[in-house]
Amino acid sequence: MKIIAIYNLKGGVGKTATAVNLAYLASIEGAKTLLWDLDPQASTTFYYQVKAKIKGGMKKLMGNKSEIEEAIKSTHYDNLDILPADISTRNLDIILDDMKSSKKRLKNILSELSGDYDYVFIDSPPGFSVLSENIFSAADYLLLPMIPTTLSVRAFETITEYFQDNGLEKKKIIPFFSMVDLRKNMHKDIVDEYQNNKHLLKTSINYSSEVEKMGIFRAPLSAFAPRSKSAKAYHSLWKEFKSLITTKK
Ligand SMILES: Nc1ncnc2c1ncn2[C@@H]1O[C@H](COP(=O)(O)OP(=O)(O)O)[C@@H](O)[C@H]1O
Ligand SMILES: [Mg+2]
Repeated sequence: MKIIAIYNLKGGVGKTATAVNLAYLASIEGAKTLLWDLDPQASTTFYYQVKAKIKGGMKKLMGNKSEIEEAIKSTHYDNLDILPADISTRNLDIILDDMKSSKKRLKNILSELSGDYDYVFIDSPPGFSVLSENIFSAADYLLLPMIPTTLSVRAFETITEYFQDNGLEKKKIIPFFSMVDLRKNMHKDIVDEYQNNKHLLKTSINYSSEVEKMGIFRAPLSAFAPRSKSAKAYHSLWKEFKSLITTKK
């Protein structure tokens, strides 16, 4: 089971769009896939048309495997389950902070599911918290969308430094450009500047209103507009990322 967290310190960079689309692409290849929505905004849960109600809240959920299994919902699609977010998800930070071995809880609870899934995708909330630290240690890979702007690139550098300073595996972090608009000078300059960066994925996702339509159809792009440029871009991203992680480990 591979655990892939879609993470960035920054909000609004395309984390949810990436998690929703890549999890779907993994599942249609026949891989048993779980998508865990850890953002109390619950956008992933909304896109998959899942009703969110974590019985007993997050505290109970983090306690044991049977609670997790009960909270997991199936989606309209084969091989794709979702662990939805609800309003109690906002308390997860405090709950984790109070628990023993508070930075490893997510890793521990996920290890209980290792026989059930080929991939777990985590849609992370933005920010830098105990929950983020849980995500850093649980994830095999941190797929990091960044918009080619000064602040977004800076967020990537901050995270990389944090990994370095805290003895975490920097090579887990895999950045790519998202919401790219090459008509903008800043986007063009930053994309050019990063052209030879060996860590950056070659595929980038352009800014497109097709992606926003996911909110209308409440489905991943490849399900309602498989021939769109954006669906194809996510497909390329998945192919590139998957080949990287299968050769890496
Ligand atoms: N490639 C894209 N082109 C245009 N709009 C996008 C793109 N990716 C995401 N969006 C839109 O931008 C907003 C933020 O995206 P989202 O995936 O929710 O980011 P995050 O999860 O990082 O906060 C959403 O309204 C989404 O529809
Ligand atoms: Mg999001």
